Amino acid sequence: MFPKVNPITTKSWNNLKEIRESYGQTFPLKATLEATNWNQRLAQLELQDCTFDFSKNYLNEKIFQELLALAEECGLNAAMSALKAGEKINETENRAVLHTALRAKSGYNIELEGEDIRKAIDIQLSRIEEYCNALHAKNVKGIGGAQIDTIVNIGIGGSDLGPAFVNEALRDYNKGIQTYYVNNIDGDCLADVLHKVCPSKTLFVVVSKTFTTTETITNAQSAKQWFHEQGYLEEEVLAKHFIAVTTENGLPAVEEFGIHAAQTYFFWEWVSGRFSLWSAAGISIPLAIGFENYRALLDGAHVADTHFFEEKFDTNIPVIDALLTVWYINFWQCQTQAILPYSSRLKKLVDYLQQSFMESNGKSVDRNNEHVAYATAPIIFGGEGTNSQHSFFQLLHQGTLLIPTQFIAISERAHSSPVHHTILNQNCYAQLQALLEGQDHSHPQRFYAGDKPSTLIQLKQLTPTSIGILLGLYEHRVFAEGVIWNIFSFDQWGVELGKKLAKEKLMTN
Ligand code: F6P
Repeated sequence: MFPKVNPITTKSWNNLKEIRESYGQTFPLKATLEATNWNQRLAQLELQDCTFDFSKNYLNEKIFQELLALAEECGLNAAMSALKAGEKINETENRAVLHTALRAKSGYNIELEGEDIRKAIDIQLSRIEEYCNALHAKNVKGIGGAQIDTIVNIGIGGSDLGPAFVNEALRDYNKGIQTYYVNNIDGDCLADVLHKVCPSKTLFVVVSKTFTTTETITNAQSAKQWFHEQGYLEEEVLAKHFIAVTTENGLPAVEEFGIHAAQTYFFWEWVSGRFSLWSAAGISIPLAIGFENYRALLDGAHVADTHFFEEKFDTNIPVIDALLTVWYINFWQCQTQAILPYSSRLKKLVDYLQQSFMESNGKSVDRNNEHVAYATAPIIFGGEGTNSQHSFFQLLHQGTLLIPTQFIAISERAHSSPVHHTILNQNCYAQLQALLEGQDHSHPQRFYAGDKPSTLIQLKQLTPTSIGILLGLYEHRVFAEGVIWNIFSFDQWGVELGKKLAKEKLMTN
């Protein structure tokens, strides 16, 4: 197991504190960039077709070296090895954390709970491939022999956000399958979807790690009832219109619901919900875009894993990204970070990342069970450009809060009008320039201070591989931040109390 280091006791933390105190309210970003080209080495960190430009951040050589030293002192190397080896680093739930195994084509011959996980993964992947290929070959039929052409993913949190984001991002790859998501317990959420779909052509994909989540099970029961109300036989409905995705522990509840074993796909306790789109929990992705494209998505994430595990820290994208977050949150007292994809296809990215970052690292007790004396995860917010420019960007430019920003642009869009795409991207680059340079003006209302930090992420194209790389890198950033803050990133005890109280209220109601 890797060391449990309180970051504020490290030499580098204290050095960084001193460095921070040597600056006033802001960092002279523009002047620093003009005075030295040191930052240029951070301007183009490439991983296949994804490029990261970290050069416009509050960095200089000394700060960067101290941040790298912080990662070393906090035992990030040992933590990465423990993650990869399948050690039970999710201590509070006594579980390994092996989402990286899900996207590797080989290796990970690790025995967990009497099961070789490589074999277990390959079995489920083959089953998923077979089912998706049958669907796309028009061989999956509903009641009365109608061809299934619509899927409704019923799930919430990690059992919803990943598939919803990816299927929207990769809509150009859709195989002609209408795809809907039912997540909220609000009856309108299900009713709105049921109004749009045809029962004999629709497959409900019920995804729940526990298969006890109230929202998901209630929505699935109501969907079953909807068929019943239209005179369909329950047995036939369950055989032809429902599949389940769960873990071994969820199986009794699946059986009670009535979904057949042949229609049930599995993932494992060592896959946290918010890292589960790479497992059968993401089955709505290959159902929508085809198995070969899903495989490319997994391969992209595997590229990110290899980079994270093998690259030196000073060119390791998720490590640098994590260290910048720590620098801003713990030393510049930032409490937020904006994620700004300049792409309508990526409009669900922020929702997805909110769970990833805030459910993982929204913790205030460290791995020694002590209250932390420093800030942890920031509030992640954002939205698509250019819409957000006409909404909250005013605050980024002239508000009193310092908000580090991450812009995401797609260089080439084969499926979009070149005119629109050029306007879109030039707007993105203009924002980066405005945040950095600001504008001198004699009138105080028109004065822009500039010197605001930003990162630019460019994907050459929107492909399964580039989306896989992007998500994989973000996941490793979550992990690296958690290690430095010495917190457990893979549990979510904070959400349990509300669930318990809601259940109690329902019992006494
Ligand atoms: O309430 C939080 C949570 O446990 C998430 O971590 C998870 O992604 C979501 O609920 C759904 O859980 P399940 O897949 O077990 O239905």
